[in-house]
Amino acid sequence: MARILAVDDEEDIRTILRIVLSGEGYEVDTAHNGLEAMAMMEGRSYDLVITDLKMEGADGFAVLKKAKEIDSLLPVIMITAFGSIDSAVEAMKLGAADYIVKPFLHDDIKFTVRHILEHGSLRLENMALKRQISQKLSIEEVVGLSEPMLKIFDTIEKAAPTRANIMITGESGTGKGLIAEAIHHNSPRRNKPFMSINCAAIPETLLESELFGYKKGAFTGANCDKTGLVTMADGGTLFLDEIGDMPLVIQSKSLKVLESGELLPLGDTKTKSVDVRIICATNKDIEACVRDKTFREDLYYRLNVIEIRMPPLRERPEDIPLLANRFLQEEHSVPGKVVKGFAEAAINAMLAYSWPGNVRELKNVVERAVIFAAGEQITLEDLPQKIKSGGAGGGTGAPEDSRLQPLKAMVCDYEKDIIINALKRFGGNKEMVAKTLSVDLTTLYRKMNKFGIDEEDIKK
Ligand SMILES: Nc1ncnc2c1ncn2[C@@H]1O[C@H](COP(=O)(O)OP(=O)(O)OP(=O)(O)O)[C@@H](O)[C@H]1O
Ligand SMILES: [Mg+2]
Repeated sequence: MARILAVDDEEDIRTILRIVLSGEGYEVDTAHNGLEAMAMMEGRSYDLVITDLKMEGADGFAVLKKAKEIDSLLPVIMITAFGSIDSAVEAMKLGAADYIVKPFLHDDIKFTVRHILEHGSLRLENMALKRQISQKLSIEEVVGLSEPMLKIFDTIEKAAPTRANIMITGESGTGKGLIAEAIHHNSPRRNKPFMSINCAAIPETLLESELFGYKKGAFTGANCDKTGLVTMADGGTLFLDEIGDMPLVIQSKSLKVLESGELLPLGDTKTKSVDVRIICATNKDIEACVRDKTFREDLYYRLNVIEIRMPPLRERPEDIPLLANRFLQEEHSVPGKVVKGFAEAAINAMLAYSWPGNVRELKNVVERAVIFAAGEQITLEDLPQKIKSGGAGGGTGAPEDSRLQPLKAMVCDYEKDIIINALKRFGGNKEMVAKTLSVDLTTLYRKMNKFGIDEEDIKK
């Protein structure tokens, strides 16, 4: 049961909040001004704070600030009068989780509180993510000493201080995402948000509301206002990953925002101005997309003010040993193992290989090799077959050589036996098998399929 602190100088509002929220099963404390609220937060821990904005003495901003000092993840909902929504928005920028406009319906309160309490864990993840990103700030984190990478660092240095939009192109795994972050963190916007979204991973309607937001009531199911990423990135950088997959409808809307610097969330009547720098990335041939009209030419020119082409790893072999060593240093995951470097033969094989999966593939190879390394060095034997055998290259990140994965193979055999034995024991009753092994049915089917287990054979 969550414990909530409700702060308002009007007794009626306090009473309503107490009745409505305790009716929902929450434990509710109330405070009748900011100072009292601040003292109560010192003495007790709360899962959520709801506070009026305008109060004599310490106001809602002071309560918000105190709450964030005590626990940066403590969600705070602001209550504001209809005429002063602007200050509620200001409070959101300072970390308030949401706001409710007076006079409010009881359902508004219930919905907002439940929504925020349920999304607590999500917020936590977001915070973790943000922290992770801000540690990666410096461009020194980006490894590379090859000619093409030096050119890229030069471009970043020139482009980062401006607000020019940037398009990063290149094969998958070449480091486009990393470069986007590096640009943001070397720009004057570094203390403002870096928001990122993958345009290929989200269905069209969701992408639209994620980007531009909506007003409560804009459509069925829009139970509360949603702030879009464009607004959240105000003053900072918006990273549009896989831009080549952005649907045409969203392309037109994005173009409008870029051209006018103004945004109209769905269902809203008033536009608001936004200041966002756009960095986008794609592994598609975006010029070809423009030619086949799947990508708007006008938008392309808006976004591609500065273009950064990430070279594939095979075109900068000098970076391979550097990257390999960096990834080796990052490997603390195997307890009790100290692998300090690479044998010459291993490096030579890596240099000769074509790396279709680029830096990401190299990183995976190093992570695996550390597991297989018997001594202090990674030897040729510890590398996947495709690299050992002269680096002919595989086109895809296809399954790795199984001879080098004795552990994985043993685990697979073991898993297969367990499933077969369980199917035998329960006479082929898959529900029972899934339940006994604590996996869901789809996982069981997938594994049976993978291991080629035929249930008819088992019944016999
Ligand atoms: N120059 C580099 N220095 C250090 N790490 C790098 C470098 N380039 C890439 N990486 C790492 O390699 C991995 C893949 O990079 P990233 O995700 O940025 O690639 P991408 O081009 O965005 O790929 P995709 O097109 O698949 O999204 C990441 O873990 C990234 O940190
Ligand atoms: Mg990426």
